[in-house]
Amino acid sequence: TNTATYKRGAFILFEGCDRTGKSTQANKLFEYLQSTGHSVKLWKFPDRTTPIGQTINAYLTNNQELDDKAIHLLFSANRWESLPKLKNLLLGGTTLIVDRYAYSGVSYSVAKGLDLDWCRCPDIGLLRPDIIIFMDLSIEESEKRGGFGEERYEKKNFQEKVCKSFSQLKQKDDDDSLWKFLDAKQSVERLHEQIVKISLDLIENCSQLPLKEDLWK
Ligand code: TYD
Ligand code: MG
Repeated sequence: TNTATYKRGAFILFEGCDRTGKSTQANKLFEYLQSTGHSVKLWKFPDRTTPIGQTINAYLTNNQELDDKAIHLLFSANRWESLPKLKNLLLGGTTLIVDRYAYSGVSYSVAKGLDLDWCRCPDIGLLRPDIIIFMDLSIEESEKRGGFGEERYEKKNFQEKVCKSFSQLKQKDDDDSLWKFLDAKQSVERLHEQIVKISLDLIENCSQLPLKEDLWK
């Protein structure tokens, strides 16, 4: 009866190129929020556990070839298939920490030469994050972190293109206040402190707002 007690969770998204510290910071934020009594869940895209996710995994590990547009649509379908679960969690008051989303989806496909506007289409109308914490790091710095792995996209010249398409995408995004660029060269602890502060403010501020199912609309 009292609408003022209604609280939804916040949708906190981590984005950036490979080896920029997204997963480290997403995990640390998760542990912090959990240990301070928040209802919180960590979610990673691609979600390799579903049938679609298993096809994506076979593609990324170079065990299956797929047309660039076909794999783009599968990454998007992998987000759509989890939408009901994510919505329920947020509406139930759980904060979501998401590691990669549609912004990665577009940036990696644009880096292959696909058209940016075409790439955005299949994700239109998904949940919009409440914040995008962008882990900003030069390719030179990320290379120093022990080199890239064995998966399909983990090559220096491709990563350079991904970085460029991330900034193209940000410029195209009308909602500039959504993006929080962090200097990912800082120490893990300093970054974590900043991310905790940003997240606690956000959780407070968006708890009374409706869910935003209008990505790129
Ligand atoms: P991920 O499992 O996050 O790998 P890592 O933990 O090494 O960052 O993502 C695997 C790769 O998939 C990564 O190189 C980015 C790419 N990707 C896309 O091309 N499109 C997408 O929609 C997503 C979510 C990821
Ligand atoms: Mg990777």
